Amino acid sequence: METDPHFASRRDGDDDVDAADRSRRKRSELSDRLKFLAAMFRSPRRVSSVTPTSRQTAVEMARPIDCRSGLPVLELGPGTGPVTRAILDRGVAPGDLYAIEQSADLCRHLEKAFPGVNVIHGDAFDLDTTLAATGVSLFDCVISGIPLLSFGPERSDALLMSAIGRVPPGRPMVQITYSAKAPLQPSDPRVRMHRSARVVRNLPPASVWLYSRPD
Ligand SMILES: C[S@@+](CC[C@H](N)C(=O)[O-])C[C@H]1O[C@@H](n2cnc3c(N)ncnc32)[C@H](O)[C@@H]1O
Repeated sequence: METDPHFASRRDGDDDVDAADRSRRKRSELSDRLKFLAAMFRSPRRVSSVTPTSRQTAVEMARPIDCRSGLPVLELGPGTGPVTRAILDRGVAPGDLYAIEQSADLCRHLEKAFPGVNVIHGDAFDLDTTLAATGVSLFDCVISGIPLLSFGPERSDALLMSAIGRVPPGRPMVQITYSAKAPLQPSDPRVRMHRSARVVRNLPPASVWLYSRPD
C-alpha cells in the first residue's frame, strides 16, 4: 500500500516535536532537581528531602481544592514547584495562588516558572507578617510542603492553628509527610484530621494528611 507522503511527513514531524518536548521536559526536571539539591545543601533542616515531590503526590495534595469557592489558595514551602504546578492544573488561576517560600533562590525560580503566581519570599511560621502586604485574610485551603517534623511539635502546632484560622471551618490544611504516622497531633482536640492519600511511588513514600476545624 502506498503511503500518503503528506501524512507520513506529518507523522515524522510529530515524532520530532514529541521527542523535542520530552527532551525539554527532561532538561527542566533535571534542572529542578539540581536547584532542589542546592537548596537542600544550603538549608538541610528546612528542605529536609533530596528530591522534589512526585507528580502523583502533588496531584493528591491539590485534590482537596474547591475551585468553586471563589477563594484563593495558599501554598507553603513550594520548593521548585511540583505542587504549585498541580494546583494550577487543578484550575486555580495564577493570580489566585499565594506561595510562601523561605529561599530567595527558589523564589526567583518560581517567579520565572509560574508567571502571575504571587510568590512571597518569607516565613510560613509567621503568616501575619508574611501575608500582611497581600491584604488577603481568607483562603479556600492551605497546602503545605513544609517539613514539619524538622521543626518540632510546638512550632508545627502553631503553624497549623494559624493556617486553619485562615480557611473557612471544615476546609483543610493539606500536609505532606514521609512519616508512617501523622505529621502532627493538634493541641486542640476539636481539630479533625485524616490521611487522604498514601503514595508509594514517591521517593520516599509519602502520605497526605488533612486538618480542619469543625464546621
Ligand atoms: C521538603 S521541601 C518541599 C518542596 C516542594 N513543595 C516539593 O513538593 O517538592 C520544603 C520546602 O519548604 C521550604 N521551607 C522550609 N521552611 C520554610 C519556612 N519557614 N517558610 C517558607 N518556606 C519554608 C524549603 O525551602 C523547601 O523549599
